[in-house]
Amino acid sequence: MLQKEKTIRKLLLGHDARQRMRAAGRFNAQLMDYLRGFIKPGITTQEIDDLVVKYTADHGHTCATLGYLGFPKSCCTSINEVICHGIPKNETLVDGDIVNVDITSIVDGWHGDQSETFIIGEASDAARAVTQAAFDCLYLAIEALTPGCTVNAIGDAIVAEAHSRGFSVVREYVGHGLGQAFHQPPNIPHFPDRKSRQQRLLPGMCFTIEPMINEGTRFTRPDKRDGWTVRTRDGKLSAQFEHTILMTEDGPEILTLTELGPKRGHQF
Ligand code: MF3
Ligand code: CO
Ligand code: CO
Repeated sequence: MLQKEKTIRKLLLGHDARQRMRAAGRFNAQLMDYLRGFIKPGITTQEIDDLVVKYTADHGHTCATLGYLGFPKSCCTSINEVICHGIPKNETLVDGDIVNVDITSIVDGWHGDQSETFIIGEASDAARAVTQAAFDCLYLAIEALTPGCTVNAIGDAIVAEAHSRGFSVVREYVGHGLGQAFHQPPNIPHFPDRKSRQQRLLPGMCFTIEPMINEGTRFTRPDKRDGWTVRTRDGKLSAQFEHTILMTEDGPEILTLTELGPKRGHQF
């Protein structure tokens, strides 16, 4: 068997593994449900991290982010011009901010990964528009999925929508396969490229879609001091939403969604 076929075969989850991924996604989504009510003006990103740590430990699970490649906290909190990988700290969320909270849990060895952008108090029209665009791009990408489709279905849908609204799509950070590993194949770029036209999303594969949509330029600037925080190069806003998806024989199943979360069509 070709090495490539072997790699792909390992990504195809059977019934039991799918159930474990469903359980991991469900717990992660319940954690997000728990957090949502706290994410208001006056909370610090460190306090959000504390809530993540306590809720996860109280339920006997683990935060995947803490110590991952040396990341120092248990979730990512990315405010305004921060695209992703913001580090929770003693920084208060104030009226008009947008903040992405990205949480990843390990439940019995399997991963659930999702994020939402929250509008703090009253946001500007620009903040609302970029948040809405990121949310709609995620759902348009999910709707574009069919069993065995190629990965570029995702990027095609996202780029068309983002550009039609005058926004740009980040390229340096992408979605990913996940399972017993946090990040594994397939790579899920949010723009079409040559590789994404060749890679199929087969029933049994689990992966994230997590478009980062920028108000201005798509170009990024990683923070040299902390080694993690990624900002827009022009300092304009960026928003992101993420779900963990299982491709089934009947189409995509969102594993990180509960009744309480914002659903397809939600208006911010
Ligand atoms: N949760 C992020 C993702 O969606 C990854 C965070 S890695 C960290 O893939 F090290 F920054 F935490
Ligand atoms: Co994530
Ligand atoms: Co992810």
